[in-house]
Amino acid sequence: MPNGIQAPPAVLVIFGAAGDLTWRKLVPALFDLFLDRRLPEHFAVLGVDKRPMTHQEFVDHLQQGVTQFCRPGRFDEDSWKAFTAHVHDYVSADFDDDKAFQDLATRLNEIDGQWDVKATRVFYLATSPGLVEMVTRQLGRAGLAAEVDRARIVVEKPFGRDLVSAKALNRMLNDVFQEQQVFRIDHYLGKETVQNMLAFRFANALFEPIWDRRYIDHVQITVSEQVGVEHRGGYYEHAGALRDMVQNHLLQVLCLVAMEPIISFDADEIRTKKVDVLRAIRAIAPGDVHRLAVRGQYAGGWLQGEKAVAYRQEPDVAPDSATETFAALKLFVDNWRWQDVPFYLRTGKRLPVKVSEVFIQFRPVPHQAFPASAVQDWRPNLMMIRIQPDEGIVIRFQAKHPGPHMHLSPVNMRFDYQKAFKAAAPEAYETLLLDVMRGDATLFMRADQVEAAWSVLMPVLEVWAESTPADFPNYRAGDWGPEAAQVLIASDGRAWLLPTLEDDGEGE
Ligand code: BG6
Repeated sequence: MPNGIQAPPAVLVIFGAAGDLTWRKLVPALFDLFLDRRLPEHFAVLGVDKRPMTHQEFVDHLQQGVTQFCRPGRFDEDSWKAFTAHVHDYVSADFDDDKAFQDLATRLNEIDGQWDVKATRVFYLATSPGLVEMVTRQLGRAGLAAEVDRARIVVEKPFGRDLVSAKALNRMLNDVFQEQQVFRIDHYLGKETVQNMLAFRFANALFEPIWDRRYIDHVQITVSEQVGVEHRGGYYEHAGALRDMVQNHLLQVLCLVAMEPIISFDADEIRTKKVDVLRAIRAIAPGDVHRLAVRGQYAGGWLQGEKAVAYRQEPDVAPDSATETFAALKLFVDNWRWQDVPFYLRTGKRLPVKVSEVFIQFRPVPHQAFPASAVQDWRPNLMMIRIQPDEGIVIRFQAKHPGPHMHLSPVNMRFDYQKAFKAAAPEAYETLLLDVMRGDATLFMRADQVEAAWSVLMPVLEVWAESTPADFPNYRAGDWGPEAAQVLIASDGRAWLLPTLEDDGEGE
């Protein structure tokens, strides 16, 4: 068995089984786990959704998704057949149907009886956010939340749309399930390179001594996407880039960069250290929002030779929409380690490339001993942590150019994940699904983490909600966001670093 990690007997009940997430992410990830022999022998998927479908129609529908999205790209019929033996039922039901939940409880007991074990029960809410409360309460009423050790609920983002609603959501979830049963998914945390940040920082003695304000000038986190809002206009109109990406993915990456060393690899220890970072982020005064935060919305343009329509022309988007598709922020973490080191964050849709990258920009050497002629190309040390694609880490340092003269040039030392380990990284959902089944909450958001992240952003959300942006759309599809995002960092005498796309890992 690869890596020796397998889950205990488990039933995964997916609410929203006919939806996009199940089709595009969950079942392809399960199938990949199955091919890697990481699923237990006793494993069952039960799908629940409103859409009427027979069991066979459900399986055929899943097969289309797996064909498109499974990791190997293709698979043989026998593997698929063997996998579908685990897809037990598809139940077409309304989530307000009490009987459907009682029947579900009966069915789960039957499965326990057949397997002669008390299987783990994972209730995965792949539904729209509006249905989370109804399904959670139904599970509670059917007695399905009661067995704390084996009943788990998985909730997808968005976790509320502001601090107040996030608190209400957490209260509701904790009313029915205990916190240890609640698994809030931020799929970024399942990405290999994001997890590797813990190993990189805390399994090496080399970096920790320089990982602070004495040596680091600033940190940049860029998560850029080429895609537009696609078919998700209805959701995105009420979200925007700050809620959709910054509140969760970018702030979680920031936490991993900035957190203090962990004492043990315990889920709560790691999560507590991350909450400490969020709580240390300097509160943004409403009067400073215009100086510390930038929003943008894409106009039409060209990307990779293809015409892209403006956000306001996308399906389900208002023609005068004020929703931001780009956000940039400057944050400070007020503690001994990071005092006055800026963290610049930016994310957006319809940017030139799809890339997620962290740049750690080190300070210049304290004394420049080389003659001016030697250091014409001189640049301070830089570390580039590539989350996706081409996962890896590049460290830039100076080296002497070969030849009779003392001439220094920046060179790159590169660690390439795939080359080093010669194995494809699992998809984030594979890692996360396996972790839920095993009951490991390390990579999931605790209630206080979610709330602390909202607290950081509330001033920005409030100020933005009060003032309609007069200049939207303010960047063309294919640009690096609005001009103001350049100004945000340029006013500190710095510039956004461009992704290390080329093979030599050039970061500017
Ligand atoms: C999701 C957002 O959480 O992350 C999407 O809702 C975004 O808008 C996606 O496209 C990006 O994820 P990834 O894994 O493609 O970087």
